Amino acid sequence: MIVVTAKWWDKAVVYQVYPRSFKDANGDGVGDLQGILSKLGYLQKLGIDVIWLSPVFASPMKDNGYDISDYRDIASEFGTLEEMDELIAEADKRGIKIIMDLVINHSSDQHEWFKESKSSRTNPKRDWYIWEDPVDGRPPNNLRSIFGGSCWTYDEGTEQYYFHSFAKEQPDLNWENPEVRSALFGMVNWWLDRGIGGFRVDAITFIKKQPVHENQEPDSFDGTAIVSPNQPGVGTFLQEMKDETFAKYDIFTVAEAPGVSSEELGEFAGEDGYFDMVISFDHMDLELNEGAKWYPKKEWKLTDFKNAITKDQQVIKEGGTTALYMENHDQPRSLSRFVAEKDHSVLTGKMLAATYFFLKGMPYIYQGQEIGMTNVKFDSLEEYDDISSHDQYTAAVREGYSEEVALDTLHRRSRDNARTPMQWDASENGGFTEGTPWLKANPNYSEINVEKALADPDSLFYFYQKLIALRKESAVSDIIQDGTYEQLLSESEDVFVYTRTLGERRLVVFSNFTDSEVEVDADTADAQVVLNNYQEAPQLGGTITLRPYETLVIDRIAK
Ligand code: GLC
Ligand code: CA
Repeated sequence: MIVVTAKWWDKAVVYQVYPRSFKDANGDGVGDLQGILSKLGYLQKLGIDVIWLSPVFASPMKDNGYDISDYRDIASEFGTLEEMDELIAEADKRGIKIIMDLVINHSSDQHEWFKESKSSRTNPKRDWYIWEDPVDGRPPNNLRSIFGGSCWTYDEGTEQYYFHSFAKEQPDLNWENPEVRSALFGMVNWWLDRGIGGFRVDAITFIKKQPVHENQEPDSFDGTAIVSPNQPGVGTFLQEMKDETFAKYDIFTVAEAPGVSSEELGEFAGEDGYFDMVISFDHMDLELNEGAKWYPKKEWKLTDFKNAITKDQQVIKEGGTTALYMENHDQPRSLSRFVAEKDHSVLTGKMLAATYFFLKGMPYIYQGQEIGMTNVKFDSLEEYDDISSHDQYTAAVREGYSEEVALDTLHRRSRDNARTPMQWDASENGGFTEGTPWLKANPNYSEINVEKALADPDSLFYFYQKLIALRKESAVSDIIQDGTYEQLLSESEDVFVYTRTLGERRLVVFSNFTDSEVEVDADTADAQVVLNNYQEAPQLGGTITLRPYETLVIDRIAK
């Protein structure tokens, strides 16, 4: 029997804010802290407990803040440190905690540390980053960075290469150097002392590097191999970080930990893990090709998705938790991913919402998901901002795909699909800004927006509100929190059906992913309907006919 102590975040629901695109308060076209402050009431109304704030630190914004030039300051276009403190305090008043995005695998190349490190081979900070001599005039190995091109960039001034897992403007910090770790841990505690609720920890499994003088098996036509996270030894750094920082505070941490297998989750997440939970990728990466390529289009089936979810649910069976999510700032919109364009609607948005909200774990809602925002289709590469989109497009064309295929790739996969301005109302640019938005708004803001959702009691927004309330305080909260997960009809390509069982009680969640009726052999007699996305009550009985995109949650005695 595992004894788990109650935590303030046990039943929390997280809302992710991507500051650049959330709300612009001063008309410069870029979202800001004042914009977020002005919308706290909206988030409180939704019922969320935690805001995960994508990075707001000082940054040249090569990767929209995931390239930090000063960890102890706020980007001037977002606001000031005082405003950040105000946001923490104002959110607190509404029972909302802020968790910040901890980007410490790399800094910006504009960080003072890197500028010093680069200035000469003998600078005391030289070893804060990873520098190597050329080998036969080339980089020391064939690793390819996540955003394309070699992981190694040559510095003319000091005639060495420095290492970067992501863009060349994001040099990796050298975690082998104790001074670096100590500087980072000091900064982490400095933020925790300001009263934040914890951290989402960015790309953290990249901190331990592959051997420098070894080539890896190529996964691309150009002989390169994508950089690979979660190398042996990473845990030593993570344990030290936990001991020196997180463990001293009443907070929670959620790690973006690519490369961590389900078998390793116990080591990474939970009471004894390095973090409280990990963000799994398996259900998201279904459409990636080898080498993390977005092209050509890769088909996947509902069973692939269900299997990925189920695997994760099995792992946390004995306690522990996981991040439940369908969208974030790196992923396409879920409606666009799961539902044919002709069927994008409040009904289908509700089906997707219920499907993941009854799983075991902590649900994350990405801004705009609660009103059913969808992917955008820009007409040309120039309209895309995302560094990764530019890389994938160029790589696709270099590999011989047509520009049409490359553009289609962006329509499906670009991270800008999630980054178009939040759609507040039907006014110009969706009410995001009085000025010109940094990224074009999705033209469907006239139809899909917050104002409209708030005015319609049957909207997706209120459905999410209800889902949150069901998890937090309802007759079924405990089952949602602790019930055992089991999948039914696992072979079906049409429906996702699972149960959550706690003692005598059992919730059954049915979701029809198709546009037709599907008959399901499941005993639903004597059950109570907890939730349904149709107005007209379902016909319960020995079998049940699920209507197109119907989601139905019932509560009954476990048999
Ligand atoms: C993570 C972030 C992503 C960023 C990358 C580099 O994957 O979610 O947005 O580009 O790390 O920091
Ligand atoms: Ca602004």
